[in-house]
Amino acid sequence: MRSTSAFGDPVTARSTQRSLSRLIAPLIKPSVFDFWAGHLNPAWSWERPLARVVARRIEAQGTVTLDLKANRHCGAIQPGQHVNVSAEVNGRRVTRSYSPTRISRSGKRLSITVKQVDCGKLSQHLCRQAKVGDALEIGLAFGDMSLSQVSSGGAQTPGSILLLAAGSGITPLMSLTRALDAAGLTHDLTLIYWARTRAELCFMAESRALAARQPRFQVHFVLTQEAQRLNGEHAERLNAQLLATLVPDLAQRRVYACGPAGFVDTARALSVGHALSFVGEAFTPRPLATTDAVGTVRINLALSGRTLEVPTGEALLPALEAQGLSLPSGCRMGICNTCACGKQSGITQNLHTGDKEDIPTSALRLCVSRACTDLTLDL
Ligand SMILES: Cc1cc2nc3c(=O)[nH]c(=O)nc-3n(C[C@H](O)[C@H](O)[C@H](O)COP(=O)(O)OP(=O)(O)OC[C@H]3O[C@@H](n4cnc5c(N)ncnc54)[C@H](O)[C@@H]3O)c2cc1C
Ligand code: FES
Repeated sequence: MRSTSAFGDPVTARSTQRSLSRLIAPLIKPSVFDFWAGHLNPAWSWERPLARVVARRIEAQGTVTLDLKANRHCGAIQPGQHVNVSAEVNGRRVTRSYSPTRISRSGKRLSITVKQVDCGKLSQHLCRQAKVGDALEIGLAFGDMSLSQVSSGGAQTPGSILLLAAGSGITPLMSLTRALDAAGLTHDLTLIYWARTRAELCFMAESRALAARQPRFQVHFVLTQEAQRLNGEHAERLNAQLLATLVPDLAQRRVYACGPAGFVDTARALSVGHALSFVGEAFTPRPLATTDAVGTVRINLALSGRTLEVPTGEALLPALEAQGLSLPSGCRMGICNTCACGKQSGITQNLHTGDKEDIPTSALRLCVSRACTDLTLDL
């Protein structure tokens, strides 16, 4: 395979660009370089991890796949992991998490598959407006669904696997399926994939073709709102009986589940203690712990010298955004750490666990924390 440069050009261009960067470094600010270089190629950047859209296609009803070419600042991504993707939407930078569905061996080519969410800021932009040539910013990879998590001995094919996907939760699981297929399947791999209708299923033809050529791979589609079922399709929501029918050897499987929070919780309940292991990740936030706390508290922003009043019962991220602060965020559900900031003083509560924290920390996740008292934050 031909090696590519930081700007997606051949290796000679990469060394030319590095020499040029060294030469002009004392003369030009990175932001100024980015501004002018961006006119030539939107993914050229001095230091920002950018990826250029090189192709787009409709994957299923309401879902689009964007093929991306990353510059040299983008980090490595393992199949099953997620990245934060940022784009400018109506003049404001919006960041959300996506799970690449395809990652090239060099890591410089990747695809994201985005399901359009009603009134969704970034999914609407990526599905409707993003075009070939646009640049997206790509954050560092995160998440626990990579193959190393299921591979106790570090082997390429880590035993028999069951993948449970619902809706856009198919994305990291398709990436795992493709990686396992590329490594040569030596154990059984079963994918059970829920969607509302057949038209909303992604990668249907590819999954069926893989099942036809690879006896170790089985795929089952479950359509919860389709009027007519075709041979082999199912209609039930995830339950113990369906699992027992489709995967009689559950006890020998390592289970991965991805989809809405309620789906992942059900998958966990059916797998833990019944399967070899379970890894699940939700794409929608779990309802945060309810709190009857009322009133407001003061948040002192140590770096900017401002003081704001926010409701004590609300997660800090939306509460501070409502005050006009533009804060870094990604998953908005406590997974990616993008919103983490230092807390110098005050008591906070983790809205997922209910735990209260009264000691200073360097990494308070604002999206899943509320302020119980006045706080001083490194913002
Ligand atoms: C780790 C992780 C990986 C993800 N990977 C993918 C992926 O590969 N492909 C993909 O399409 N999505 C993925 N998502 C979901 C994605 O990050 C966004 O949440 C989704 O695209 C909606 O963003 P938005 O800006 O369009 O909606 P927003 O403007 O944030 O929200 C608009 C409305 O939609 C609701 N909403 C937000 N997210 C969802 C959702 N996922 N489903 C239904 N309703 C929602 C909100 O509550 C709100 O009411 C992932 C999420 C996480 C946490
Ligand atoms: S935005 Fe991801 S942890 Fe808060």
